[in-house]
Amino acid sequence: MTATIVGAQLGDEGKGGIVDVYGDDADVVVRYQGGDNAGHTVVHEGTEYKLSLVPSGAVRGKVNVLGNGCVVNPRTLFDEIDALRERGVDPDVRVARRAHVIFPYHRVLDGIEEEAKSETGDEVGTTGRGIGPTYEDKAGRRGLRIGDLTDPDVLRKRLEYVVPIKRTLAEEVYGVDVEEKRETGSPSPNDGADGVGPAFDVDALHGAYREYGERLVREDMLVDAGDFLTDRIDDGANVMFEGAQGTIIDIDHGNYPYVTSSNPTAGGASTGTGLAPDVVGDGDVIGIVKAYLTRVGSGPMPTELGGVPGDTPGYDGDPENPETASEELAHRIREAGNEYGTVTGRPRRVGWLDIPMLRHAARASGFTGLAVNHIDTLAGLDEVTVGHSYTLDGEAVRTIPPTTERWAECEPNLRTFEGWPEFDGSEAAEAGYEALPENARAYLEYLEDELDTPVYAVGVGPARTETVVRHSPF
Ligand code: IMP
Repeated sequence: MTATIVGAQLGDEGKGGIVDVYGDDADVVVRYQGGDNAGHTVVHEGTEYKLSLVPSGAVRGKVNVLGNGCVVNPRTLFDEIDALRERGVDPDVRVARRAHVIFPYHRVLDGIEEEAKSETGDEVGTTGRGIGPTYEDKAGRRGLRIGDLTDPDVLRKRLEYVVPIKRTLAEEVYGVDVEEKRETGSPSPNDGADGVGPAFDVDALHGAYREYGERLVREDMLVDAGDFLTDRIDDGANVMFEGAQGTIIDIDHGNYPYVTSSNPTAGGASTGTGLAPDVVGDGDVIGIVKAYLTRVGSGPMPTELGGVPGDTPGYDGDPENPETASEELAHRIREAGNEYGTVTGRPRRVGWLDIPMLRHAARASGFTGLAVNHIDTLAGLDEVTVGHSYTLDGEAVRTIPPTTERWAECEPNLRTFEGWPEFDGSEAAEAGYEALPENARAYLEYLEDELDTPVYAVGVGPARTETVVRHSPF
């Protein structure tokens, strides 16, 4: 049996909590896309673990796989594994030989390109982990796969081809002196490539990455993901595909170019693991939805309530000192939902739930169930509103237009629901769905109708125990 977890919005839907709830019944947890740009918090037996690459099952004694659709920074991989071991956890992590390797030059180039774009305000706001440049090389047929790290001759040959190209790109196109500029934060001093200069040095890279290859072999971590997972499924294992990021930052289905470079949507679970689409389609595909909307960075947000300067186009107010009723609401939701960047502490843009966005997400991934988070955050409001459809060129539209520019022209057609009172999340989780306030259930049932998908779980508080589970995929 399989279950696929997909973010239905912009990547901050609270997937971790749902993965936690369903993860206990999974035997194998697989990531199928992305790399160390993910950042999820896993709570197990009262202890909190922060992981950015290793699948969440690592702390629960599950088998964990980084599929061929992932981009893997070996340094992050081993840092996370070592940190878990120091805390007494012995994670079982397997890596697809077909996954691509993030090298230090990818991270450097990620930063250089963002800096160049920022001159015209066009930066994507990437995580700086080298994700885009690595997928670029994969598509450009000049990338290195994890399996290449285990053959020193192949490793050297490929590096000798690609590194001069990357150096020329940095120096001649972007005008950066790679010998002078030091990379911040990556890679570590002991891997032989501790700055921008060595990041473009074939010998230094060869030495460090050959060692990573040796360790991957020594610790028996390498797999052909498709074969490995097929065997597990044939043996009756429950397999969870843990999507990172979200639909609206999917490279194909998202708000291009403000996207990540992989496919968080459910199709990625097939191409990114080597399992056929019907294997993924045989199981549940669960869309994770936050009960309202938040956005980090610029880009359209038709249901926005309260802006953030620098992110909301044309807005220069102060999110902490709301002046209008809608800013007040945004502030209240932001506080109640703790909608501040986990690393930067920056306030997130807040808006009402965007139903055209969710229709798009549900179609792209074929959701069979929904998990709706933060129902508690909206509790206590007199009214709760959604963007039911948009008006574009005088016509009602029910889903997101394909271009960012057209999406920005959409006006939301709002629909208002009666609010629901505050309630105790743990009690509700214990008592079950019917114990949720009636108006909260009406809101959830509207969502079920619009997306033609049942609600499997409802997040009613930040703790893992504060989840109302109506249906489990396993
Ligand atoms: P990249 O994945 O680092 O290339 O960043 C591309 C875009 O995806 C940026 O807007 C990031 O903020 C966004 N992004 C990447 N990973 C996450 C995530 O895990 N949650 C939310 N946004 C993300």
